[in-house]
Order: sequence, then structure tokens, then C-alpha cells
Amino acid sequence: MSTVQENLNYKQYVVDSNLRYFKPHATAVEATFAQEISSSLGRSKKFISPKFFYDMRGSDLFEQICLLPEYYPTRTEVSILKKMGNDLAAHVKSDTRLVELGSGSSVKTRILLDVFSRVQDSTEYIPIDISEILAESSELLLRDYTALSITGIMDSYEGGLEFLKQYDSRQNLIIFLGSSFGNFSPEYGHLFLQKMRSAMKPGDLFLIGLDLVKDRDVLESAYDDSQGVTAQFNLNVLLRINAELGADFDLGNFEHCSVYDAENQRIEMHVRSLADQMVMISKSGLRLELQKGEMIHTEYSHKYSLPQIGCMLRDAGLEVVRTWTDEKEMFSLTLARRPART
Ligand code: AVI
Repeated sequence: MSTVQENLNYKQYVVDSNLRYFKPHATAVEATFAQEISSSLGRSKKFISPKFFYDMRGSDLFEQICLLPEYYPTRTEVSILKKMGNDLAAHVKSDTRLVELGSGSSVKTRILLDVFSRVQDSTEYIPIDISEILAESSELLLRDYTALSITGIMDSYEGGLEFLKQYDSRQNLIIFLGSSFGNFSPEYGHLFLQKMRSAMKPGDLFLIGLDLVKDRDVLESAYDDSQGVTAQFNLNVLLRINAELGADFDLGNFEHCSVYDAENQRIEMHVRSLADQMVMISKSGLRLELQKGEMIHTEYSHKYSLPQIGCMLRDAGLEVVRTWTDEKEMFSLTLARRPART
């Protein structure tokens, strides 16, 4: 293990015999955040990557979003996962390891761990999440699952996949739930699936949860809820930049904005400047000038058709094993495999 740590610049934290974490060195993480913000806010079409939403408060707000009546994806995906358990168990072997990208609070993970426990005496689980919520949720999982060992990777998805590539030869079932893939641009999504495929060994499995195209009204209220939680979630990224990069965004000068772009099949989320203003971001060395009405793009949330999902996976060299949906076809889960000898 020390080779993986040294090569990829991770520090290992051993909490217990069944719990440890790998975390990139802090200075490297901070430099990346400051540099990325400097480049993405320094251009004429300003944006902030949605991966920066998830500090402690952002992760907590996202958990609140998942419980909102308007936000159907979480409860629909959970209902599908509960129904498909037996079908999935048929693909889990006695030594298959569960790997989760963007594990968050690991609520859905429990449904899958229950499936694994039908087939395995003990299960190895690797959650990969950029947020420190991973530590909290891992400890909660271990309270309820005694035959579980957890190796948490506190890193980006890409970092986690690189880590996995060099890990060992055991079969993995990698899960990527909640339609988080939909937050990528189509170009990056394609590249990401290629990274995914190259992190998978022949025979490894990939389970992806994706939101499906539906009526504009349903989509727009899911991303602009009546309690304003999504607005707080969106604007929180500015507070994070204030706290971590020494910026002076005044939240009273911005508003949440989200619309569905039917042609591109995506919700587009922005923060809109309510005034002509100037913001200093000291650790990024940036003096940001914003005009009244100017938008900073913060997130895409793509929606798919079932045929599109099959095409995307096949284009990346994966073989579709099976797709599950709810009765109204609001949301989907697709199991894919990296074929042998590709
Ligand atoms: C994490 N991701 C899949 C959520 C989504 O639906 O795109 C993030 C989110 N943004 C606003 N509400 C939820």
C-alpha cells in the first residue's frame, strides 16, 4: 500500500482494523481550488465547478435537498434500488468489492450492502468522496454493519479512480448514483466514462443512476424548491470561496437562478449578480468585476433517454447488462460490465 500512497501523494489515516482513509496532502488540494477558481472566474463566461459545492455546509444542504418534496430523484432511485436487489445479487460474487463514487451520506449504500450481505460473509467497501462527510458516514455504517471493512478515499472522482486502478486484482462493482454523472458536460462525461473503463478490470461492473427527461415543470421545481434550500445550496459556494480563498462575496448581491434547456436536455444553474460590483478573491489573485444581471454558471444537470444511456456506455467500451426504472420512468439504474479482453 505504501507504493500507492507515495506515488499518488496520499496520506493514510488508520482509525481501526476495519476503517482507514486516504487523503491527498492538504497543500495540494488548496492549490487546486485556488487555481481552478482563478481560471474559471477569470474568463469572460464565468463559471464555478459544481464539485466545489460540497464543503460541510454544502453537503448538508444537499442532504436536505434530497428530502424535499419537489426533488424526486433521490426517493425514486431509492425505490428502484429496493426493488432490484435480487436481480443485482445474481451479479455479486463472494469476493466482489463495493466501490462508490460520490458516496455522500451513504444512505443508498445501505441498500446495496444488504444485497452484498446476502452473498458475502464480509464485505469490503471503498467510498470515494471529496467531502469530509465521508468520515462521518463511514463511522455510522460501521455501527450497523459489523462484517464490513472500509477504505475511504477523500478525493475527486478522478483521483479515486486512479487510486483504484493501482489497488489490486479483486473484482469491483463501482456505483455512481444520484445522477451525479449528469453534472458533467457531455464532452467531459464521455471522457469520464473512458476513465471509468480504464479503471475497471475485465469483468468489473459499473452501476450508474441517471435522471430521465421529463416535463419542464417537474424539472424546474425540483431545482428551485419552494423552501429555498436549492438557492442556499447554490449560493453557499460563494461563502465557501470567501472562507477558503479569502474572498469578499456579499450574498445579498446575488440570487439563485435555474432553468431547463430542453434542447440540451439539462437544468442550467447560475448565480446572478444583482449589481455592478467588484469582488476580491485574494488566494486566487483575482479582482472580479461583475455587471448587474451577469451570470456565473454553477451547474449542469443533464437528463437522459434510455437509448442515450445505452449508447453512452457502449461508446465507452462497456457492455450494458440490464436497466431498471420506476413505473413512471422518472429515473433509471443501468448495470454495465467491462467485457473480457478489450
Ligand atoms: C448531485 N447532483 C446529481 C444534483 C443534481 O440533481 O444535479 C445536485 C443538485 N443541484 C441542485 N439540486 C441538486
